[in-house]
Amino acid sequence: MNFPGPPGPTQVSRPDYPSFIPQASVKGKNQAKNGPREGEAGHAMKAIVLPKYGPPDVLQLKDVEKPAPKDNEVLIRVHAASVTTGDCEFRSLKLPLAWRLLFRVGFGIRRPRKKIPGQELAGVIESVGNAVRSYKKDDQVFAATGLGLSAWAEYCCLPEKGLIAMKPSNMTYEEAAVVPVGGLHALHLFRKADIQRGQKVLVIGAGGTVGTIAVQLAKSFGAEVTCVDSARKLDMLRTIGADHVIDYTREDFSKNGEKYDVILDVVGKSSFSACIRSLNKKGFLLLGNPGLSQQLRGMWTSIRTSKKVTGGMISYKTEDLVFLKELIEAGKIKSVIDRRYPLEQVAEANRYVESGQKTGNVVITVQSWHPSCTSERSREWLDEDFRGDIVDKNGDR
Ligand SMILES: NC(=O)c1ccc[n+]([C@@H]2O[C@H](COP(=O)([O-])OP(=O)(O)OC[C@H]3O[C@@H](n4cnc5c(N)ncnc54)[C@H](OP(=O)(O)O)[C@@H]3O)[C@@H](O)[C@H]2O)c1
Repeated sequence: MNFPGPPGPTQVSRPDYPSFIPQASVKGKNQAKNGPREGEAGHAMKAIVLPKYGPPDVLQLKDVEKPAPKDNEVLIRVHAASVTTGDCEFRSLKLPLAWRLLFRVGFGIRRPRKKIPGQELAGVIESVGNAVRSYKKDDQVFAATGLGLSAWAEYCCLPEKGLIAMKPSNMTYEEAAVVPVGGLHALHLFRKADIQRGQKVLVIGAGGTVGTIAVQLAKSFGAEVTCVDSARKLDMLRTIGADHVIDYTREDFSKNGEKYDVILDVVGKSSFSACIRSLNKKGFLLLGNPGLSQQLRGMWTSIRTSKKVTGGMISYKTEDLVFLKELIEAGKIKSVIDRRYPLEQVAEANRYVESGQKTGNVVITVQSWHPSCTSERSREWLDEDFRGDIVDKNGDR
């Protein structure tokens, strides 16, 4: 499902292949002890590297060591990845103080320990480790990379038991690549509230990565869904199933007298008290992006009242990714894609996401751009998926 945002001067441009000429090297994850070195033909890959926290300009396209799977890992040839608001927060560390400190402890105090960002992907398994039983070469998969990140690269190794599942058969790689982060987050939170048919659900920040899947999940559970976001996203939200929409720049959802059984606050900018006031007696407030004070107030509210508040640290389950795949194949969830950028333009994609104009998701197309991508399948995919969507540097389609 394509929902282009405001037109830019050039939405996506095909890279000139010479721009893939190695610029530098970093040591790849799982690099074999005596493995190939920088620039060795057939053993290098292109990746976006984050050498330090900062603005989009710090991102660099580099030639790095192609990773090799450990015994329990699969090697995925990445076809598509995403740039999310979370990626921009990780890159820039523009976060509330407590989160910033937590991120620095988790990802590197002075500079990121994980050099290749990217939280989700879809691609094809190129090879598997000796102990892997669930996947084989040529399986089409989608995955969340978790704390290891690494999706902004031509290849990525992930544990067989990680957040990985077979790609929904009715989705392209691009569509599948933008499901895991938003889908796992929304599903994890909604499971806490055990949404019942006919219940009223409010999704605040419904037009982004998490929200667009949350809306469709809530609809699939039989809920009546009200979406809160800015005006330009409301038509799209109606298209994916919203029963009611509210433009938060014009109307305060907490002042129209409506009460909800479940409120999912994706962005965490709404007043905590207003959310609690808008809940039915035994309602659930799900905090998708809570600050410390919201978490503390949430705990207090859950103890002292009949209303329940959930949020904070979250761990995702592979079964949930499989559940999402089944819902997608049943036609219940579609991906909302705004713009597509090739791997070499990840910095540009970051700027667009950071500009706040994104509707739904921004996709990074990876493997198809590379001249070494010669398989029939990839060529077909390139032809089908990008026809009419791509504007080259001269503005020609
Ligand atoms: N594991 C985790 O803890 C986890 C997982 C996923 C996401 N997150 C975090 O959750 C946040 C949201 O994620 P996302 O990927 O869905 O972001 P996103 O794609 O940027 O979507 C956020 C949406 O909320 C809208 N919005 C902004 N302010 C709003 C307000 N006051 N009221 C209602 N809507 C508002 C935005 O629209 P406008 O910009 O047009 O206003 C946008 O459509 C991010 O900070 C992300 O890092 C955390």
